[in-house]
Amino acid sequence: MTAAVSILDVTAARAALPALVDILVDGVRGGASIGFMNPFDPAEARAWWDGVLADVAAGRTILFAATLGGEVVGTAQLIPASKPNQPHRADVSKVIVHSRARQTGIGKALMAAVDDEARRRDLKVLVLDTATGSPAENLYQATGWQKVGVIPDYALWPDGGFCATTYYYKNP
Ligand SMILES: CC(C)(COP(=O)(O)OP(=O)(O)OC[C@H]1O[C@@H](n2cnc3c(N)ncnc32)[C@H](O)[C@@H]1OP(=O)(O)O)[C@@H](O)C(=O)NCCC(=O)NCCS
Repeated sequence: MTAAVSILDVTAARAALPALVDILVDGVRGGASIGFMNPFDPAEARAWWDGVLADVAAGRTILFAATLGGEVVGTAQLIPASKPNQPHRADVSKVIVHSRARQTGIGKALMAAVDDEARRRDLKVLVLDTATGSPAENLYQATGWQKVGVIPDYALWPDGGFCATTYYYKNP
């Protein structure tokens, strides 16, 4: 079965909320450094997604969902820069695939969809950062992202301890 990637408007995102909450909780509880600490409660995930939905509704965030067998199993966000001097730039954020669906190409499919949409919007510079040494680094290197450098002690792992981050950019 191949995953299909689509862009969710706010109505579709609201319908996908339980799956999106589950993906975020699964990621954090699984040890991914994606902005949250353990113990991580689904209510905290829900509150964060509500904020994302507000950004989707306002056109500030483009939300991607990867669906497998009718279930949302992966997600990513493209966030165009808001600064007037960066109309050509965007951040890529919260690329997460549920642990039950990993290593089957869904991460790559999400990144390809992000690139397609970035080109469609004439975005020329994409930026992201990720925990140094994480599987996500392999994903980004496999999809043409250029490593910029490492910032030590940038964040914390969800179970504690400092975590370095590596910045990447891409011209899609
Ligand atoms: C990073 C993540 C999104 C990858 O998703 P995925 O669907 O498993 O990725 P894919 O199956 O498309 O794999 C793409 C490439 O990533 C690399 N990769 C994926 N999982 C890996 C792992 N566990 N170890 C090493 N490399 C891995 C491989 O290079 C792979 O390419 P290949 O299969 O041609 O060798 C997923 O592991 C995840 O959700 N992690 C937790 C959340 C997270 O850290 N997100 C990044 C936030 S910036």
